[in-house]
Amino acid sequence: MAQSNTLALVTGGIGGIGSAICRALSTDSCHVVACYYPAEESKAQQWLNEARAEGLNVSVYPADVADAGAAAAMIESIEAQYGGIDVLVNCAGITRDKTIRKMPVEDWDAVINTNLNSVFYVTKPVMSGMLERRYGRIINISSVNGQRGQFGQPNYSAAKAGLHGFTMAAAQEGARKDVTVNTVSPGYVATPMTGKMPPEVLDSIVSTVPMGRLGKPEEIAAAVAFLAAPETAYVTGANIPVNGGLFMSF
Ligand code: CAA
Repeated sequence: MAQSNTLALVTGGIGGIGSAICRALSTDSCHVVACYYPAEESKAQQWLNEARAEGLNVSVYPADVADAGAAAAMIESIEAQYGGIDVLVNCAGITRDKTIRKMPVEDWDAVINTNLNSVFYVTKPVMSGMLERRYGRIINISSVNGQRGQFGQPNYSAAKAGLHGFTMAAAQEGARKDVTVNTVSPGYVATPMTGKMPPEVLDSIVSTVPMGRLGKPEEIAAAVAFLAAPETAYVTGANIPVNGGLFMSF
């Protein structure tokens, strides 16, 4: 079923990749709600002003998606205000890079909660409505490092690998109701997240990318927009790698 008035929710929506996804999904007939971490209030207001000045059909909503209660309350409030969510992009994510021997339990927990548990917390209430309405597009933003592992990222690699299992299970639960669930796995993309890496480590990784450069946020957003389209109805439980050839698999 094609959607005439579509509602999309993007968690991590004001971040590097999330912003590009909001821009790619926003149209006259698709309103996009960008969920942001509550501590980023002033950044979110500035983001909203700039996005609206650009003509984007967007709103912002504060919620800590690593908190199950906050995630459920957000979905209830957004659906009461705008109607059912047709497209969910789980993009919220953080890094706390350290080797296993140096990693405090807090850094393990923070990344698992924000990058993996949050996806269950947000998807659960959204998917219930999608199954009832018999339509939905769920796209989980994973990472190349969920497929191949990365030195210094045991927490992040575990969470992002977990998203693939979640995606395939959810895809089976949604399949008979036209709710598709897929994963996009970015490689190293020019965002504040990679900007925090030690430059020499980033350079050495980029030198191993067959395309020899970082990805652009818009290149990730293009894959998300493909999966979010009503026409992309027969793709489910899939992963689209967008990594410049850094990890190739089939
Ligand atoms: N492979 C093997 N050995 C390595 C290595 C590697 N890639 N990198 C370092 N080592 C070795 C060092 O030579 C050193 O060896 P010795 O002890 O024998 O001297 C040892 O490992 C250093 O270990 P430490 O525990 O002391 O590590 P560190 O504190 O120096 O560095 C780190 C840890 C800062 C996390 C660093 O590994 C790092 O920056 N890694 C990159 C993490 C990364 O790729 N992050 C991506 C962020 S962006 C993102 O996540 C988006 C996305 O989806 C891609």
